[in-house]
Amino acid sequence: MEKAAQAATGGTQGSPQHRLCAVRHDRAEVIPERLAVVTGGNKGVGLEVCRQLALQGVAVILTARDEKRGKDAAESLRCESELTNIIFHQLDVRDDNSVTSLAWYIESRYGKLDILVNNAGVSGIVADEEGLKALNIDAETWTSGRAANLLKEVFQNTYDEALNCLNTNYYGCKRVTEALLPLLKLSTSGARIVNASSLASELKRMPNEKLRNDLCDINIWDEDRIEAVLNTFLEDLKNGRLEEAGWPMMLPTYSVSKMVINLYTRIMARRYPEMRINCVRPGFVKTDICWNLGLLTPEQGARGPVMLALLPDDGPTGCYFDQTEMVKIW
Ligand SMILES: NC(=O)c1ccc[n+]([C@@H]2O[C@H](COP(=O)([O-])OP(=O)(O)OC[C@H]3O[C@@H](n4cnc5c(N)ncnc54)[C@H](OP(=O)(O)O)[C@@H]3O)[C@@H](O)[C@H]2O)c1
Repeated sequence: MEKAAQAATGGTQGSPQHRLCAVRHDRAEVIPERLAVVTGGNKGVGLEVCRQLALQGVAVILTARDEKRGKDAAESLRCESELTNIIFHQLDVRDDNSVTSLAWYIESRYGKLDILVNNAGVSGIVADEEGLKALNIDAETWTSGRAANLLKEVFQNTYDEALNCLNTNYYGCKRVTEALLPLLKLSTSGARIVNASSLASELKRMPNEKLRNDLCDINIWDEDRIEAVLNTFLEDLKNGRLEEAGWPMMLPTYSVSKMVINLYTRIMARRYPEMRINCVRPGFVKTDICWNLGLLTPEQGARGPVMLALLPDDGPTGCYFDQTEMVKIW
């Protein structure tokens, strides 16, 4: 990872690699004033974030794990919204090679990055969608987290899905951020990082009192400690003792992944005070991740992330937002 990051900045001045990058820079036609990367940009909130940023004049690299879905999405924005400042690049946030390849692409073409929206996410659940619809759970019950017992019938927390969820929602965000940080440090307009969080990350939803208290104290956390907690979670899941160990029972892996995204946001905001790094709950949005049960449109859901992507230099950092409102949840 470190090697990739160094490669992405052309960190070895004077080396053949660096000279190659310099030549490629000369070839770039125009370096945009603001350049953004959006992960999971092919649909839902991510697609709308791409559209709204491009409408504000930001050059957007819409990324998606699936080449066809991503290209089609970028094409739809170019045609339907007449936006010429959107390009597609493949990115699977779980795949180191894919992440490195994106970093190389941006380095060689633009030599910097201004905005990173870590939006890609999965639910961590295998759902019986028909059964879920039949339960007819109202939005209030869903967002309050009180539906956990009802949902046991239709949700399976499999170990494989949990691994995939943590690898996407937390490790994916971290992987992409680390690879693109050297480019964000070269931002000409002030670097912004926006991480997708959720209501499920609220600490009051963590029954384990010791962990709930620990999650409030940012001074004791670093990436190693986060990884240790996630490994304990996976062990408890494997041994069927999630409830006994006091993990959240409404979308357990998803909730834990978003709790650690909040921590990661705060760690990074402290480490890079010159950047504006925040996390945001887009709202309860009607998209695939929540089986289209949400109430808001993706257009509404994108407003918070877009606002944070365009924060002024004296804007907040290390904070949690519920849509466009800053909320104290720790
Ligand atoms: N909708 C809500 O109510 C809600 C509430 C709170 C938080 N959020 C958060 O908002 C973010 C966006 O969700 P959404 O509502 O827009 O859901 P969505 O429509 O299901 O979009 C999720 C996006 O993530 C992508 N993705 C999944 N795994 C990926 C991977 N390994 N690499 C790259 N991209 C990947 C998906 O791509 P594919 O099409 O290839 O699967 C899709 O583009 C998520 O982080 C979610 O947790 C949503």
